[in-house]
Amino acid sequence: MDKTKIEVQAITTAQFRNDVLTGLNASPKYMQPKYFYDHQGDLLFQQIMEMEEYYLTNAEMEIFSKQSAAIADLITAENTPFDLIELGAGDATKSIHLLKELSQRKQEFTYLPIDISANVIAHLESHLPKELPGLVIKGLNGDYFEMLHQGTALSNRRKVVLFMGANIGNMELEEARDFCKELNTSLSTGDLLVIGFDLKKNPKQILAAYNDANGITAAFNLNLLHRINRELDADFDLQSFEHYASYDPESGACKSYLISLKDQFVRIGGENIVQFAVNEPVYMEISQKYALSEMEEMAISTGFHCTSRFFDENKYFVDAVWRVD
Ligand code: AVJ
Repeated sequence: MDKTKIEVQAITTAQFRNDVLTGLNASPKYMQPKYFYDHQGDLLFQQIMEMEEYYLTNAEMEIFSKQSAAIADLITAENTPFDLIELGAGDATKSIHLLKELSQRKQEFTYLPIDISANVIAHLESHLPKELPGLVIKGLNGDYFEMLHQGTALSNRRKVVLFMGANIGNMELEEARDFCKELNTSLSTGDLLVIGFDLKKNPKQILAAYNDANGITAAFNLNLLHRINRELDADFDLQSFEHYASYDPESGACKSYLISLKDQFVRIGGENIVQFAVNEPVYMEISQKYALSEMEEMAISTGFHCTSRFFDENKYFVDAVWRVD
């Protein structure tokens, strides 16, 4: 057992139950997208990333496979050791390009991937060192809002934070602003943030990515009901809920819902009954899209400034480098 292993609090069943009941007793009802990622949810998200309609992954993959040398140049411009903290690391198939570039340079760094999925962290810790011999890696499993403080408190080296995959899109605009401010507060002047935004584009293209023809996104949403049934002893009838996605081209908000197809009662655990009216929506997730100007404004209003922007060929996506002022 590695003595330096960092102990972090994974999500407990009690917390899950509490969040689910809070969301389903609220009006309008909602769920938290972080709970999508149980084992089955991880697999479904992998399938989403491979879908024809889901352009985001290919776009960001193109950026990291073709432009990692330039990104690594920016990160190593200050010639001192650093901690590379990745929020929501996933399978790291995009960031591995950057890790390779960084490993080839003489600068010392520790890679600290944070992910809500324990499976994902275990996989990274066992596989990455095989692909990148000599890589120093410490995985953190938990909610990245909570892990952030722990990750930044680990050393007094300068910090480089990776927040890719348009994960910031899972927050409402004001939530995103608060998050960036909080992130800024836990960093120091000169620290860097590499952050991925899905850009506003043709509304039909965006909607299709969240309303795919094969129903994989629908299955991804419904899987959370399945998870609640299994882990919280509930009796959701998955046939009685339907996936609905919407995109508002003005605000850039792409939202998904599960719609109750009938008047129904659902039992959660021994004592909780939740009532759903016919056509009542449960708000599952936002995938916020940004204009470039909105991305830059977000940087400035949260204590950063945007020093570089990396695009895919189609300009569907941007990975921006923000520097702490
Ligand atoms: C992982 C939050 C970036 O919003 O595009 C994909 C999640 N949900 N399809 C996104 C998701 C439905 C994804 N993020």
